[in-house]
Amino acid sequence: MTISTNDFQYISKLVQDLSAIVLETGKEYLVESRILPLAKKEGYESIEELVKNLKTGPKNGLSTKVVDAMTTNETSFFRDIHPFETLKKHIIPDLIKKRETTKELNIWTGASSSGQEPYTFAMVLRDNFPQLKTWKINYISSDISHEMLDRCRKGIYSQLEINRGLPATLMVKYFERHGTEWQVKEDLRNMIDFRYLNLCEKWPLMPKMDLVLLRNVLIYFDVDMKKKILKQIQDLLKPDGYLFLGAAETTLNLNEDFQRMDYKQSGCYRIREG
Ligand SMILES: C[S@@+](CC[C@H](N)C(=O)[O-])C[C@H]1O[C@@H](n2cnc3c(N)ncnc32)[C@H](O)[C@@H]1O
Repeated sequence: MTISTNDFQYISKLVQDLSAIVLETGKEYLVESRILPLAKKEGYESIEELVKNLKTGPKNGLSTKVVDAMTTNETSFFRDIHPFETLKKHIIPDLIKKRETTKELNIWTGASSSGQEPYTFAMVLRDNFPQLKTWKINYISSDISHEMLDRCRKGIYSQLEINRGLPATLMVKYFERHGTEWQVKEDLRNMIDFRYLNLCEKWPLMPKMDLVLLRNVLIYFDVDMKKKILKQIQDLLKPDGYLFLGAAETTLNLNEDFQRMDYKQSGCYRIREG
């Protein structure tokens, strides 16, 4: 281990202040494995030198790069499968019925990572609900990582990433070859508005949502931040809208105004009535 306690503490505080991501003692190995390559890339000899520059140097976006490096971007197409089954069988049909007169749906994916989740959802919509072609679908997908947002917008995936969860039929239908990789077709890419949004800062104005997917990101935050974010989602959701969290996440003991829906392992919630 080459990272000093002081440098570790400085980086954890900076990352928590800027992104709410908690890096407890014991995560030194993680910080070192992510920050050392960044230090080298930015022309520093060591983490110590990078930290010195963070403290005294010009504000040239280095702290943003540190936060970017400390985000965990693990994701895949159709991750955990059950939520997408629930969306297809129950939630989208229900929303279609409820919004039949306005023919408009507002959807937000709050931690898009490299884009597999929003593109999965977009494919579920396109492939199963042709009637939505004439609807106004406002689909926002956001993340704190500029690098990830860039990947989302390009929509280019390696064969390995494609093999992780994407059925061949959907690959043929919605992707085109891009050298040795695969790119999401323009039509599907244009369906999603990818934006920068830091969940721990003031959120930009967004329309009231019918559906929010905030999966596998609350786990990185402390209890107070989880509560704050869930309260904001409660205010952002329409009273009959739905929230999806990750398999290891819950609203329990964080926000009792949410009620878990009884769909197998799908992490689906709605706001309690009355
Ligand atoms: C593990 S990925 C989850 C990706 C996807 N939702 C899924 O379930 O497969 C977590 C994502 O949360 C993002 N993230 C971390 N802190 C954030 C913050 N404060 N605001 C917005 N996004 C954040 C990271 O950049 C990363 O892309």
